[in-house]
Formats: sequence, C-alpha cells, structure tokens
Amino acid sequence: MSREFIDLPQMVSARGCVRLPGSKSISNRVLLLAALAVGDTEIRDLLLSDDTERMLDALRRLGVGVSALGGNAYRIAGVGGRFPVTEADLFLGNAGTAFRPLTAALALAGGRYTLNGTPRMRERPIGDLVDGLRQLGADIAYLGAAGFPPLAIATPSGSEVRTVRLRGDVSSQFLSGLLMALPLRGAETRVDIIGDLISKPYVEITLAMMARFGVNVPRDGWRCFTVPAGSVYRSPGLLHVEGDASSASYFLALGALGGGPLRVEGVGRDSIQGDVRFADVLADMGAQISHGPNWIEAAAPAGHGRLQGMSLDCNHIPDAAMTLATLAPFADGPTTLNNIASWRVKETDRIAAMATELRKLGVVVDEGDDFIRVWPPEARHALRPAVVDTYDDHRMAMCFSLMTFGAPLRINDPNTVAKTFPDYFKLFTDVTAAVPVLAIDGISASGKGTIATRVADALGWHYLDSGALYRLTALAAERSGVRWDDETGVAAIAEALDVAFVGGAILLAGDAVGDAIRREEISTGASRVAALPAVREALLFRQRAFRRAPGLVADGRDMGSVVFPDSRCKVFLTATAEKRAERRYKQLLKKGIAVNIAALLLDLRERDERDSQRGVAPTQQSADAELLDTTNLTIDIAVDQVLDWVNKVPRNR
Ligand code: DC
Repeated sequence: MSREFIDLPQMVSARGCVRLPGSKSISNRVLLLAALAVGDTEIRDLLLSDDTERMLDALRRLGVGVSALGGNAYRIAGVGGRFPVTEADLFLGNAGTAFRPLTAALALAGGRYTLNGTPRMRERPIGDLVDGLRQLGADIAYLGAAGFPPLAIATPSGSEVRTVRLRGDVSSQFLSGLLMALPLRGAETRVDIIGDLISKPYVEITLAMMARFGVNVPRDGWRCFTVPAGSVYRSPGLLHVEGDASSASYFLALGALGGGPLRVEGVGRDSIQGDVRFADVLADMGAQISHGPNWIEAAAPAGHGRLQGMSLDCNHIPDAAMTLATLAPFADGPTTLNNIASWRVKETDRIAAMATELRKLGVVVDEGDDFIRVWPPEARHALRPAVVDTYDDHRMAMCFSLMTFGAPLRINDPNTVAKTFPDYFKLFTDVTAAVPVLAIDGISASGKGTIATRVADALGWHYLDSGALYRLTALAAERSGVRWDDETGVAAIAEALDVAFVGGAILLAGDAVGDAIRREEISTGASRVAALPAVREALLFRQRAFRRAPGLVADGRDMGSVVFPDSRCKVFLTATAEKRAERRYKQLLKKGIAVNIAALLLDLRERDERDSQRGVAPTQQSADAELLDTTNLTIDIAVDQVLDWVNKVPRNR
C-alpha cells in the first residue's frame, strides 16, 4: 500500500520571517456573517484552505453570491438573513467551524437541509447545540447516532421562548454558532450557560466579529449573553482577516528551539485571537519574545539556555497548546498541559494521538482524561527517528515537524495541513536549516568507502554505508530462503531488517556479518536487489534516519540524486575498470581470499552495467556533483580534494 509522506531531516536551526495565512476561526465566521448581512462585503486575506472551502461551497449551494477577486480576496453578496435556496444537502467535511454555525443558522432560517461530514465529523458531538436550538422551536433530526451528525433540518415552529440554556463545557463552538444565528429570530434572545464555558477566547472572536457586522451582544461575564431584538447584520464593506494565531505557534516554537529570531507577520499585540497568548507561555518557558502591532518574534532563551518545562492550564489556548506538547521534549523538565479535555473531540482524539506518536520517538508520556504530561529524554539524541501518523489532523502534522530538532522523521499524510495551512511545509523548509550532508556516490570499487570514512572522521560527522544496507538485504533474503528477484518478498525483508552498526561492526539480528556481506555472491545479490524499486523504497527512510547532527557523509549510488537531494556537497567518484579490479583483488588477497583478477573484472563490468542501466535510481553523476577520477590518485589526495570541496560550500544558515 503506498501512502503519502514527507521525510524531514534533523534540523539544527531556524530563523527568518513568515507571513501567516488568514485565521481559520475569523475566516469562517466572517464568511457566514457576510452572507447573512445586508450589503456586500469584500474580504481580504481570507484563509484559503479545506475548512474555508467547505464554508464557501456551502454558501454557494445556499444561493449566496460568492466572487473570487483574485489572491485571497473575495466578495460576498449578503442575503439579508434569508438564504435564496431553501432545500439543500450540504457536505462540510471535517470543518467544525463550518458545521456548527451553519447548523444554527439553517435551523433558525427556515428551509429543509441536510448537513453531513466525514466519518470523523460524524463522531464529533453536536447534541448540546441541537438541544439549545430545539428550545427555540428548531426542527432538527439526527440521521445517524443521536447527538452526532448527520442532521436533517426543517423549518422551525414559531416560538416565543426568550431564554436558551446551553452547555458550554464540550465545545465553545456551540455558543459561537448559536450567537451568530440568533439575529435571524428578530426577537430578543438570552443564552444562559450551564456549567463552565471552555475556550472563552474563541467566543471573544465571535463577539468581535458580530460587532464588526453591527450586532453588539451585552453579556454578564461568561454566564449570560443577550442578542437584542431587531439585531441585523450590516456589511462593514471591507474587512481584513488577521493572520492565524494558532498557525503562528509552530513558527514561534521553531524560533525558540532553533535559535531564531523567527518572526511571524499577520498577528501581533493587538490581535483578537486568544492563541496569541501562546507567545506569553513561550516567554514563561524562557524564550525571548518581542511584539509589534502586527508581528511577533521568538528566539531561543538568552545565552543558549534550555526552555523550562512547566505545568499549565491550557483552557485559554486549546489549539496552540498542542504545539507545547511537541516543544516539551526539548525542555529541561517535564511539562504538564492541564484542562485539555476538548482535545478529545477535535479532528481526532488529540490526547491519545499525541501520546501514541510521541512514544514512537522514545518520549515518555503520561495521559489522563484532561491532561498530558511529557518528559524530556535524558539527552536530545535519545530521540529516535520514527514514522509518525497524523490522524487526518492538520495540527498533528504541524506539531510533529518541531520534533525534527531531535531526530529525522517521516510524517505520513502531511497534506492534512491543507485544512488550515496548505503551504506549511514549504514555509517550514524555508526557515529551517537541516543537518548537512556530503553525498559521495560512485561506481563499484571506485574508493567510495575508504574516502567517505576518512572524510567523515576528519569532519567529525556520521557515516552511512548505504551499499551495506543493500548487501544486508541480499544476505537476509538468502538466509530466509527468499529469492533475489522476488520483489515483494525482498522488500518485506528490507523493511524489517534488524541491523545495528556498532563501532566498526555490522550486526544482522545480533549476528556479526561484516565479512559475510562482502562475499562476491552477496555483491551480486546486492546489485540484483538494488534494482528492485520496492526494495529501494523500503530502505529510503532507514537511510535518511542516519542524518543526525552534526553532519552525515553518505556513500552510495543515489545519495545525491534521490536519498539526500539537498546535500550540501555532492561528489561522484569514478576510476577505470582495470584499476578497480586491481584494488578489489588486493583487498581480497589481504583477507586471504584467492580470486582471479579477470573474473573480478568481468564481475565489475556486469555490475556497472546493471547499476547504471536499471530503471530506478541508476548510478550516474548528477549535474550538481563534482567528478573525481581516482584512477591515478592516492587516497590522501582524494580525501583532501573532497574536504576542500565541502569546506568551500558556504553554510546556508
Ligand atoms: O557500494 P557497494 O558495492 O557496497 O554496493 C552494493 C550494491 O548495492 C551495488 O550493486 C550497488 C547497490 N547500491 C545502490 O544501488 N545504491 C546505493 N546507494 C548503494 C549501493
């Protein structure tokens, strides 16, 4: 089964400037209010993402005039509280910010509608909102499980009810949705909150946006809200959407982890979004934070100190708090995030997902109904490379990108970021610098191994002998009785390879195989299995996982072209076949293995042919690689030449 993934190298630093996409919460509220308003609204800097696309699509289906003005600007023709289309089936994906407010607006507007979403949306509760709306005479039926989407909505019966009692402890979106819809009733309506109201800053955003459209909501603290009689939304004409403060959290965290300074533009001191408070938490952890009206900047603690772990009530920053969970492994002590029960009803059960994936990297995590505690590993390098799942949750993907400051990662289904931040990984790559790689590719017996190990020693970098992985695969296949041309069988072996490089020794399932993999039959086997695309695919992340700080010298055939295309420096080694046969002959003699030089030469030519002619990752010098012909060079001279090339490349960051 092939699935999408992104492989991220271990990162060493982060700095720069990022222009944030528009806020999801503001965008979807503004779209609905502009649609319900009297008059046209031009919206600038709208977030263009899956969640806003769901809202735009629903509004079009309801007969609202939506015009794209180019870039992130849209014009919405307000319908003055009456949707032209009174019967429609709407699909709202997994967008809570579209589903909840549209449920409320359509239930009070009159008409016949069905609202449906993804399987996950059908697991996200909506019962409290439906209960609230039913008190106002709304006619809403559950088409599946009671309390969850999908819903069927019919025209409400007239109702004189003046007060609604609403629970606010599962999701603040119920209150937000209800408040935005209440002006459709015309009559004064009061909402009394039963129990605690969570995520209050999101309700602040709702109230601020309603005010922009002319409806002010008097309230008594967080217990009681009154939408006055005769409230009518009126377009403010032109409206700019702030940058997304939750999206800002990833880059601010990156600045704190990767040195910085890293600046985000689009939110600042005057933001109406609660998640800007994330910057205060970072400051409490020791990061250096500065603010302007429209920007925030983060840098590492002064004097290159470490961030401090802390215990925090996260009710006021539920979304940005997720970012703290993946920042916590880099702090100097445990971090406890409390009061996060709402995580369990978001895009996925975020407490469970976060704990499961952090553990894959070797992080110790405690979890409870409404908290998560993350323990930093003993040393940063104790983090393990891992393949991380994202659970169709954009924030899981973005949060785990931070963990690359500890280890290389493969993130599955990274495109889930399209929900709120389609360009996330591009911007992430723009502002981070990865552990550098020197790729040394070349043909068989061109001196790669010797030169690469010597260069790695001189630089103090790690070393990857990628040929050994193909040899190990061939040997493991032979030992398991799997034929070298059985692509699926060999790929499964490559995937599960139990290998350890310990000092100079190579262990396969605990057995030292350094000599066994250098046998001539295994050279042939390695060359055969290396021609199978599924085998190369299976070994790809295993090779990338070697990219650890402070640097990696990678030796092979496709290091510069496929495995590490962003290598800081690429070298391609060659030598005449005769010279290479002679070198191999001497090497084998030294080990007491008698061979015939003519047979060696023939073997080498056959392998050259197979390695350079295969359909997948053929051995070839890439255009950006330096060519080094070692036929007449001593090892010392070759090593010096390669070091000279690496040292000449300017450090990018
Ligand atoms: O470098 P080596 O001789 O140990 O490589 C053994 C085989 O594996 C060789 O036939 C080429 C193949 N190989 C490859 O296809 N890609 C690599 N990155 C490294 C080796």
